[in-house]
Amino acid sequence: MRKKMALLVSLVAAVMISATNVVAGEVEVLHWWTSGGEAAAVQELQKMLEKEGHVWKDFAVAGGGGSAAMTTLKSRAVGGNPPTAAQVKGPQIQDWADLGVLTSLDSVAKAEGWDTTVPKVVSDVMKYDGSWVAVPVNVHRINWMWLNKSVFDKNGIAYPKTWDEFFMAMDKLQKAGVTPIAWGGQNWQEATVWETIVAGVGGNDFYKKALVEADIAALKSDTMVQCFEVMKKMKQYTDASAPGRDWNLATAMVIKGEAAVQFMGDWAKGEFTAAGKKPGTDYDAVPAPGTDDAFLFNIDSFIMFDVKDADAKKAQSAMARLILSPAFQTVFNVNKGSIPVRSGIAEDPFDMIAVSAMGDFTDTAKSGGLMPSMAHEMAVSPAIRGAMFDVVTNFYNSDMSAADATMKLAAAVEEAKM
Ligand code: GAL
Repeated sequence: MRKKMALLVSLVAAVMISATNVVAGEVEVLHWWTSGGEAAAVQELQKMLEKEGHVWKDFAVAGGGGSAAMTTLKSRAVGGNPPTAAQVKGPQIQDWADLGVLTSLDSVAKAEGWDTTVPKVVSDVMKYDGSWVAVPVNVHRINWMWLNKSVFDKNGIAYPKTWDEFFMAMDKLQKAGVTPIAWGGQNWQEATVWETIVAGVGGNDFYKKALVEADIAALKSDTMVQCFEVMKKMKQYTDASAPGRDWNLATAMVIKGEAAVQFMGDWAKGEFTAAGKKPGTDYDAVPAPGTDDAFLFNIDSFIMFDVKDADAKKAQSAMARLILSPAFQTVFNVNKGSIPVRSGIAEDPFDMIAVSAMGDFTDTAKSGGLMPSMAHEMAVSPAIRGAMFDVVTNFYNSDMSAADATMKLAAAVEEAKM
């Protein structure tokens, strides 16, 4: 009996040692995922790391779109005290790598076969001088319209497919006493809606010229005037409390049926999921009018700073490995509203919206409709993006005409290019 007990104890100990990978380290992780859906998603990473015995020190800086988080990150780095890992994306990855402060993730990448599972368009952004310096988490689609199903059904209105149908529907809903559009009045949210309109009104080639190439002729074209007109027309269908509203509070208005629609990337789905709502029953998502053949993509990623502590290094590589593991890719993206960024992940745990996004991702990659989001740092330089944000927000929040906004946009981008 005693012998049996001793054997059992040593077996349990052995299992525990292998489960914790022997050495535990701490990772301090800076991110901006603080809404219900975002927090539920990122907590899955924390749980998985803790299961391997590591310690997660949460460094969440609230603020959708991440600009507050980036300001905090810069000040911590300037102070010589960066976190172990930080949510950073797009061209900023290269900027941090340029400073020589990042850890190479090549050994994890090699062991895990990232080069064969992650699409090249994505890995190009994650690599610096051919070396992996960031790990991608997901793919978000921007150009969605989120709809409260019962608000549309009760009022006998079909989901609009064109901008004309859209504004007719908004009129009817307003007359019925619903706030038609849930608007979050912050610059990055306004830029998010604007880029969706640019793709929907101008089409894919126009989007690429204007918001990827920052082509001045496209920026000051009549088509751009039309885009601004559509954006300003939306304003009459928003409520008086829109200025400054956080994106997730706008989503909550649609969830509760206080508003009919929201234009937002599919992190909004994370909020519906966290509220226990089901697509097709409680709500739906359709591509914004005119954007069926467009997939404006936004990829989240983490960089790891060069740390001296050997245990912290182990925790970093565990975090990198876990992020692209099939188990995490599934549970995280189901909660976050995004789709997996690597191949080989089963579709069945995902809802119908994610499955349609997966299909559209593949189709648009072939057709040319897969395009980087300007608002979410995938397309143009930070200077050009900043210039675009300023003009769009000033236009939306003033009585500036669409024609003036177009001229100002071209001039501001021209200056930002210098
Ligand atoms: C985006 C980010 C998303 C989502 C959103 C709102 O920039 O890529 O993951 O979190 O901000 O916070």
